Amino acid sequence: MRSRIAILASGGGSNLQSILEHLERLGDVRCGDVALVASDRMNAGALDRAARRHVPTVVLATDKAPDRTPLADALETHAIDLVVLAGYLRLVPPDVIRKYAGRVINIHPALLPAFGGPGMYGQRVHRAVIESGARVSGVTAHFVDEVYDRGRIIAQWPVPVFPSDDAGTLAARVLRVEHLVYPRVVDAVAGGRMTLSNSATAGSEMLVDTRPSFTLLPHEDSRLAENIELALGC
Ligand code: GAR
Repeated sequence: MRSRIAILASGGGSNLQSILEHLERLGDVRCGDVALVASDRMNAGALDRAARRHVPTVVLATDKAPDRTPLADALETHAIDLVVLAGYLRLVPPDVIRKYAGRVINIHPALLPAFGGPGMYGQRVHRAVIESGARVSGVTAHFVDEVYDRGRIIAQWPVPVFPSDDAGTLAARVLRVEHLVYPRVVDAVAGGRMTLSNSATAGSEMLVDTRPSFTLLPHEDSRLAENIELALGC
């Protein structure tokens, strides 16, 4: 049975779009369907993209119920199995983290654990990378826990930083890679090919990855899509 996926987005929703298109391309072998798009912003472009494809949408009210959040209600109403953050700028509330342990994932536009944490989103991340003098940035897909950008890493891919870059040019290069990596990770998690499990050490979690092991191939622009497919094995 396919997983029912909720995408949470605060912005334009280009990652949402790439996930929808990838799942559509996979057709019958896809492991999930986007069953809900939720946003904390009523004017988020992601909501329009979802509506154009007849995906149900919800705008999350910011006023909080005492022990249950609007997000938890929306996820329950739509019988969601997997929560996918795609440019979502709020912390996922603890009731959702508890209920969906190991079933909430995020994409971050840098190589965590560097350049993550509160306030590190969008162009701020890319500005910080450039100011640091780093020569390599990248994307990180990870499980989400109750702390910003801290959960177990699922997949990463490097992206070069050029001396001529500003935050805009770097963001565009990174975003292109997000669009290739994240949809594949979403399908792999939806299909149980990558899961989070408690390791033998109490309290620590580890990634269980049932895909064939891979060698990370360098960023090579002309073969980027092909290399990512090879490396992620999906
Ligand atoms: C993406 O670059 C995503 O990685 C980033 O926001 C952008 C959303 O773009 N997320 C973060 O910075 C989270 N810390 P999109 O709305 O076009 O998908």
